Amino acid sequence: CIQNSISLSLTPVLIESQAIDAENIYEFPKNFSFGAATAAYQIEGGWKEDGKGPSIWDTFVHNHPEMIADGSNGDVGDDSYHHFMDDIKALKEVGFEHYRFSISWSRIFPTSTIVNEKAFDYYNKLIDALIVNNIEPVVTMLHYDIPQWIQDTGGFLNPYFIKYFKLYAYTLYKNFGSRVKIWITFNEPFESCVEGYSYGSTPPLITLRGVGEYMCAHHVILAHAAAYETYKAHFKQDQRGMVGITLDSRFYFRKNPQDSPEIIDRFMNFELGWFAHPIYSKTGGYPQVMIDEINERSKKEGRAWSRLPEMTEDIKKFVRGTADFLGFNYYSSRYAELDTSDYNPSSNPTITEDSRIRTSIDPSWKRAKSSWLYSVPQGLHDALVWIKDQYDNIPVLITENGWSDDGQLNDDGRIEYFRDHLIAVAKAINEEKCNVIGYTAWSIIDNFEWRKGFSERFGIYHVNVTSPTKERTAKKSAKFMREVINNRFIGQ
Ligand code: NOJ
Repeated sequence: CIQNSISLSLTPVLIESQAIDAENIYEFPKNFSFGAATAAYQIEGGWKEDGKGPSIWDTFVHNHPEMIADGSNGDVGDDSYHHFMDDIKALKEVGFEHYRFSISWSRIFPTSTIVNEKAFDYYNKLIDALIVNNIEPVVTMLHYDIPQWIQDTGGFLNPYFIKYFKLYAYTLYKNFGSRVKIWITFNEPFESCVEGYSYGSTPPLITLRGVGEYMCAHHVILAHAAAYETYKAHFKQDQRGMVGITLDSRFYFRKNPQDSPEIIDRFMNFELGWFAHPIYSKTGGYPQVMIDEINERSKKEGRAWSRLPEMTEDIKKFVRGTADFLGFNYYSSRYAELDTSDYNPSSNPTITEDSRIRTSIDPSWKRAKSSWLYSVPQGLHDALVWIKDQYDNIPVLITENGWSDDGQLNDDGRIEYFRDHLIAVAKAINEEKCNVIGYTAWSIIDNFEWRKGFSERFGIYHVNVTSPTKERTAKKSAKFMREVINNRFIGQ
């Protein structure tokens, strides 16, 4: 039932650089939007310009330069604070229809009591220029860079975080909501909570294994719901925008074909469902499999309460249904099986251990420069189908998908990755009727890849970071993306 794809007997179409077999062409729906993404700390620079306060990433890179692969940081980096018009030029050249960027909370609120007017000037200029150029702004409120003053009160672990976030969201809606219609509260809270509060591998470097990640997530979910409710109560009627959250997940294929298919649900629920089930499912609350497993383990550990915070009926009700769409970041997948080894109750198991997942890869998968990034387009397809089945076909905006290399202009690996993943998306839409409303490539420009600095590059445009002019230069993938957007179909 390939509704939209052109099949039948067209002769092979030659699209500039690629000969395509007409049998395998898939169309994108009319209103489908193509875009590209960035995040404030990764591109802005201007780390203390015009009254900006420090974020946890500023503190981290300055205290621990040795923890960044190439010793670099985002103090200046791509300097989009001064070169954002070059970013818009790049977006325009490719023909992107939306631009996902994040706002730096510590630029807007450098301290708990100061609102920094200059920050509004910057984001107003950026948003206005996007609109003049016909590019829809998609704004992420928090992309990892929590203000240091909030971290000093405990960050995500302090329930007051919910109040701070609500005030921040209110401020953003009020100032930018006349022009911004697509809001994303959080980016990849799975990563922030697990890496930042359990493994302690990224700021704030907290190692509360098996406890910190669950507390963090609990407050993130509540803060998200509070931001959604604030929009609904004060702005929705006039501004008519949408509010969602961006979650990330791998897809997990069964390693052992003899395992029951439900094993996939288990692993997906410990990753995507952890955040998605409370917000998007019919029943609300954490996935039952998480509740059961963590309750049981907590008992064995001799604890009076479960390490997974309880969602009371009131909280469940408050959170359920608080999103107009799901933002989904997809990069890679794994094979998975249940770890059946004996459980040691005196250990401090992280969520990954609680999930009892044992992962592996297929040696035929191509690997990017990033050690974790294997190209598995089928995983994107299957994840979209899983989301459709679990969450009543909620609209999904793919908010990130991309490939890392050394930053060379001849980036055939990126083109292949984009092509294969766009085919997977088009198939999910056309064959499975998945409600995917857009695709966002990560990233429009090479940028500061967190602990990897500038040593792993995801850009469609190269950035000459060492030159003061910070030139952006189109890579080969820019041309490829331009063709896809012009054609509005993808083929093999
Ligand atoms: C997801 C994160 O949101 C983004 O900040 C990061 O650069 C990409 N993954 C690539 O690792």
